[in-house]
Amino acid sequence: MQRGQFSSKFGFIMAAAGAAVGLGNIWGFPTQVASNGGAAFVLAYLALAFFLAYPALMAELIVGRSARANAVKALPSLTDSPILKLGGKAVGIAGLITVAVILSFYAIVAGWMFAYALAPMLDLIGLSQYSQWFKDFSVVRNVMFTTLFMIATILIICGGVNAGIERWSKRLMPALVLILLLLIGYMLTLPGAEEGLKAYLVPDFSKLLDPSLLVSALGQAFFSLSLGVGCMLIYGSYMSSSENIVRVGAWVTLIDVGLAFIAGLLIIPAMYVAQHYGVEIFDQSGQLLNGDTLIFSVLPSLFDQMGQVGIIISLAFFLLMSLAALTSSISLLEVPVSYVVESHKMKRPTASWIIGMLITGLSLIIIFNFELLFGLVIAITTRYSQPILGLFFCIYAGLVWHRDKALTEIKKGDQHAEYSIFWRIWPWYVRFVCPVFIVAMFVHAL
Ligand code: TRP
Repeated sequence: MQRGQFSSKFGFIMAAAGAAVGLGNIWGFPTQVASNGGAAFVLAYLALAFFLAYPALMAELIVGRSARANAVKALPSLTDSPILKLGGKAVGIAGLITVAVILSFYAIVAGWMFAYALAPMLDLIGLSQYSQWFKDFSVVRNVMFTTLFMIATILIICGGVNAGIERWSKRLMPALVLILLLLIGYMLTLPGAEEGLKAYLVPDFSKLLDPSLLVSALGQAFFSLSLGVGCMLIYGSYMSSSENIVRVGAWVTLIDVGLAFIAGLLIIPAMYVAQHYGVEIFDQSGQLLNGDTLIFSVLPSLFDQMGQVGIIISLAFFLLMSLAALTSSISLLEVPVSYVVESHKMKRPTASWIIGMLITGLSLIIIFNFELLFGLVIAITTRYSQPILGLFFCIYAGLVWHRDKALTEIKKGDQHAEYSIFWRIWPWYVRFVCPVFIVAMFVHAL
């Protein structure tokens, strides 16, 4: 079977950045900043994203492009030792399970975005009396929109790499950046914004070494860059060999981290603006109320200030967020689907529907036990599974795989790669520094 491939460098960067940029940036990151000490978290996140997540991203991209296969096949192919082959397979399968669980909660939040995009549409056509229902938290609404979102994801994945993933991502990302910048400009004129800006940008250094803050920031960085589950490995496997993979990876990291930073620049000050207008954000003791739905109370209160225009902006914002969530969710579903298609010879549409529906089932279980499961599932997958599996991807790329083979792969797109700074640092860095730091952070947290 012919493997799909991205058609151009721009297309690849946009698709991989589209996978990376999503709810993690605009919902997850600001929520984490707000609940973990503001600017100190921002600082820890930036450092961990560049110094730990970027090298780990490169490990996945390089291995993926070299093996041209899903993680379950790719990791064992790096070694001749039967035990290490088995270990590689286990890591790949653990990634498949993790990614399925991640998609199951992702679809719930993405469903909220859908619902919030629909509400202003109703306002516009004069049906405001119904729009509130779409904004109120209810099991029926959650079931409906989660399922709708999963169906949309499945339909795109049925189409494969070029038609599906790439075409969508290219158009979306620039529009998203534009609307975020517009909103920031407006928000900064409102009362309360300054205080929020301070909370976002002026760190309290004493919080910086708080072990729980560091583990949260690490999980957030790995979540945002889509690491540890073989997702970026798959995207690497669709990348053409002539690209300069190091540079492409750097672009993806910059775009992803940049967007999270910009989103924080909007949401955190907007929280203080909303508070100024009477929305309850913190409780008496200064703890964040309703972290999971924070942006769904903060942003609408900002849009309300804008009058009629606010309805249009709100529509545009939540529509773009829905689409950004889609370019990420397709990367999540692509992981198990490509595995089943490649390793079990199932047809792509069949695999997409079966796996997609199973994951929808998982989402429904979470929705019906929301208080119990939602936060728990997020914590287990993003705080623990992703960084720990990411550590194994680093070890396989840096220690198990032969160094020369990694170099050969990088050189395909950059003949002088062996003289680059990247090559002087990265091999020993992913071999020792990344694993040691990740382990140390968890030990510190315990
Ligand atoms: N990174 C995406 C976001 O920030 C979500 C995502 C896509 C993801 N693919 C992934 C998370 C793989 C973990 C693993 O919204």
